[in-house]
Amino acid sequence: MEIWHVRGGNRLFGSCRVQGSKNASLPVLAASMVLPARSQIRNVPQLRDVDAAASILSHLGCRVERSEGEICIDSTGVNCAEVPHELMAEMRSSVIFMGALLGRCGEAKLSLPGGCQLGKRPIDLHLSALRAMGAQIDEEGRDLFCRAERLHGADITLRFPSVGATENIMLAACAAEGRTTIRGAAREPEIVALQDYLTSLGAHIAGAGSDTVVICGVSPRPEADFTVPGDRIVASTLACACAAAGGRIILSGVKPDHFLTVLHFLNEAGCDIIHVNDIVEISSSGSLRAPGSIVTAPYPGFPTDAQPILMAALLRAEGTTQITETIFENRYRQVSELRRLGADIRVKDTTALVRGVKELHGETLTAPDLRGGAAMIVAALSARGESRVIDAGHIKRGYENLDDRLCALGAEVWIEHT
Ligand code: EPZ
Repeated sequence: MEIWHVRGGNRLFGSCRVQGSKNASLPVLAASMVLPARSQIRNVPQLRDVDAAASILSHLGCRVERSEGEICIDSTGVNCAEVPHELMAEMRSSVIFMGALLGRCGEAKLSLPGGCQLGKRPIDLHLSALRAMGAQIDEEGRDLFCRAERLHGADITLRFPSVGATENIMLAACAAEGRTTIRGAAREPEIVALQDYLTSLGAHIAGAGSDTVVICGVSPRPEADFTVPGDRIVASTLACACAAAGGRIILSGVKPDHFLTVLHFLNEAGCDIIHVNDIVEISSSGSLRAPGSIVTAPYPGFPTDAQPILMAALLRAEGTTQITETIFENRYRQVSELRRLGADIRVKDTTALVRGVKELHGETLTAPDLRGGAAMIVAALSARGESRVIDAGHIKRGYENLDDRLCALGAEVWIEHT
């Protein structure tokens, strides 16, 4: 168990290179086994979820070599189509191995995935799409037995632009006969990253970033070289930390376009934002005003992953902020903890009203999940006195050396291992 100690009150100053994106790395890692090839993947963050993906690949027969920030995967020796339950349970993204395994091996034995407890997280869209492509999938309790003599292309319309379902279909479609069209596809930057990686493997795929993605087979290449884009949620977290604590930070290695909605609300809250190419500068006096109404939505809307974190940054903002969560049914788990710092937050159904308070005070908090944990750290940075965040390993699932990065910007953060 880790206990994060945060002494609030320091302003943040300096530059920080943002880590590679977790949510772009994980599907790319799963995709590395769809075709027999050797992939060099760069700018991969060192995270528990990445460790879990690497363990799954090794278990399936891939050779996985890691050096700082890079993973080299040789998937020519894949010899197994089963992902053990304990590896599936490590993270949500393990479900993407279903499309990858079906495509490569014609079968997959796995179980329902783990990940943050954000409410019901069904995989019906994944299953119905793969079935439409010719897979037979039997569900027994938490186990999934999938088979496909031959996957074929299909015209699939998603009733919701699910990120994971779009990724799963893209992977299976690379090995399918004929053309697959995904309508109502997710448009997140992570989908574009996956398309770019699959293209480097020889896939004929187009449309990522729009609501229609078309995949029509591959002309396999033996080697691929891919660089993971910067993590837009980590960038949002650091920007929110600066907004709440005050100061001036410069973020590099991430595309401002990928988190424009977050920057927009920080600007509305009184921060100065300048962005040029892959550099973003955020300046904050530490005294914010409520930026009005924030509604989470699929990309290019305001990201649900940044919702707890922006909420944490606005706890002392003058006025009332209205936040509506539309993606996950249980994404206000940070609220009860933030109240312990003195925050005034009322939740009714999917809407939270945050009334700015004059001051927050340090407390002992428990991180409820990955982004909820990051929210605790952001709030604690602007609280008076010391806070302790008890974290059952959530934060390190998504943030690489967040403690060191914040300290380098002038924060007082240290981790106690118990
Ligand atoms: C991805 O999860 C991200 N995870 C999440 O980030 C992110 O919050 C989410 O997309 C939304 O942006 C990874 O990329 C690893 P979805 P995913 O399928 O793919 C419903 C983080 O903190 N749905 O787009 O699981 C579902 O219940 C994490 O980094 C179905 O109904 O998200 C939810 O309400 C947490 N049926 C909504 O769609 C399905 O078959 C969005 O889910 C699939 C999803």
